Amino acid sequence: MASARAMTSTRLLCLFNTTAAGSIKTLARTGCRVCLTRNMSSSPPRLQGCMSAWTIDQYGSNGVLKYTEEITVPTISSATEVMIKVHAVSLNPLDVAMRGGYGAKLLKLRRDPLSVMDNDSEFPLILGRDLSGVVVDCGSGVTHFAPGDEVWAAVPPWKQGSLAEYVTLTEYEVSHKPKVLSHIEAASIPYVANTSLSALVNGGGLCRDSSSNKRVLITGGSGGVGTFAIQLLKAWGAHVTVTCSQNAVGLVRGLGADEVLDYTAGDVVEQLEMMEKFDVVFDGVGGDTEEWAMGLLKPWSGAKYVTLVTPLLLNTDSMGLLDGTLNAGCSLQSKAIQNLLSSGVFYRWGFYAPDGPALDEVSKLVDAGKILPVVEAQFSFTQVPQAFQKLEKGHARGKTVVRVAEEDDRQTEELVQDSSTETAESVQETAKQS
Ligand SMILES: NC(=O)c1ccc[n+]([C@@H]2O[C@H](COP(=O)([O-])OP(=O)(O)OC[C@H]3O[C@@H](n4cnc5c(N)ncnc54)[C@H](OP(=O)(O)O)[C@@H]3O)[C@@H](O)[C@H]2O)c1
Repeated sequence: MASARAMTSTRLLCLFNTTAAGSIKTLARTGCRVCLTRNMSSSPPRLQGCMSAWTIDQYGSNGVLKYTEEITVPTISSATEVMIKVHAVSLNPLDVAMRGGYGAKLLKLRRDPLSVMDNDSEFPLILGRDLSGVVVDCGSGVTHFAPGDEVWAAVPPWKQGSLAEYVTLTEYEVSHKPKVLSHIEAASIPYVANTSLSALVNGGGLCRDSSSNKRVLITGGSGGVGTFAIQLLKAWGAHVTVTCSQNAVGLVRGLGADEVLDYTAGDVVEQLEMMEKFDVVFDGVGGDTEEWAMGLLKPWSGAKYVTLVTPLLLNTDSMGLLDGTLNAGCSLQSKAIQNLLSSGVFYRWGFYAPDGPALDEVSKLVDAGKILPVVEAQFSFTQVPQAFQKLEKGHARGKTVVRVAEEDDRQTEELVQDSSTETAESVQETAKQS
């Protein structure tokens, strides 16, 4: 099963490579200037010096992204931290938004609660939330990891990101990566997994043992979050309906969606209204979705609408921390009360939350063949600006991954050659069977 699973994920990985076919080149980085120095004490050897990374020194469009080899290697500053050598990173819409300054005020407060640093203290800022890599060092209190362990993680937005050779995180934020995935495949999952789990469990009241036969609608099913959430909910036994564009119907069906509606053909709301009502609507599209989606929920039976598209950070950016938070809080409260009183349905916002133990559970599902990575495009570490451009165009079909370490470059070249005869139909068929 494991090897069949690995083959399947390899096929999925390569299916979407066409947009970045030119990027499958070994990263020609000049020698890394990180050196291992042995302490005189009995503590383990510590990495010191500089590393390469993509940073921004100001907010703006793609031109602010800057490659540098002058970033200090992040040190282990607490007993529970692990240092990870990054092998692959995936990008999320949040990276593009943060490049432009989205959430800057609230994230700055999280990084510097007492405001003791100067105005531009977040720079040079490293973007990139997902990573797959290898532990190279551990704090003295780390119990779950040791140097050499292959791990994956979603880096919280208030921490320095993963578009760098090394990242330091607390062990709570990290998890052992699924054995059947390459680093490139593994990097596509953590942030969307942590977000989906946090939103579906805390907001949607769903879990492995309570989802059987629950009817769930996912809007935006073809993107990073959607392609993961479909598989998670199917693994939990839910009945999953998805909205997506016509050319993504085969993909989401291949991932297990029971009902798929093409929102570009006809009135999708009308079609949804004719269906049996839902226990949970998981909204990854936002906009006016909440205006019609509330009416699709089963009334007076604990049904929930959970949206990932919230005004919180936009409000704090434009109105300031206090007014922005108050405004967002009032808007949430009034919508929640109104919907509860009028039709007995819950209105909620979902957010990413760092959670290594949750990733442990996802890892088991991946190793059991129940969740496949969906990698649409790959870029080398020298092509990070192109990867951002790809993301900015929208219409994602799964995830965009950046290869950071050379080992995975070689592996990718082999995978691409092996799978050159694969067709979309055979991949979707394999996904259905696994
Ligand atoms: N609150 C949080 O903590 C949090 C965390 C993660 C993500 N998010 C947000 O959640 C949203 C989804 O994230 P993501 O990573 O999945 O984004 P993504 O990878 O960019 O995917 C979005 C998907 O939605 C599809 N889409 C666009 N308009 C649609 C519509 N009207 N109906 C159905 N599908 C539509 C897009 O394809 P087509 O345009 O081709 O249809 C695309 O496949 C984003 O807005 C993101 O910022 C929030």
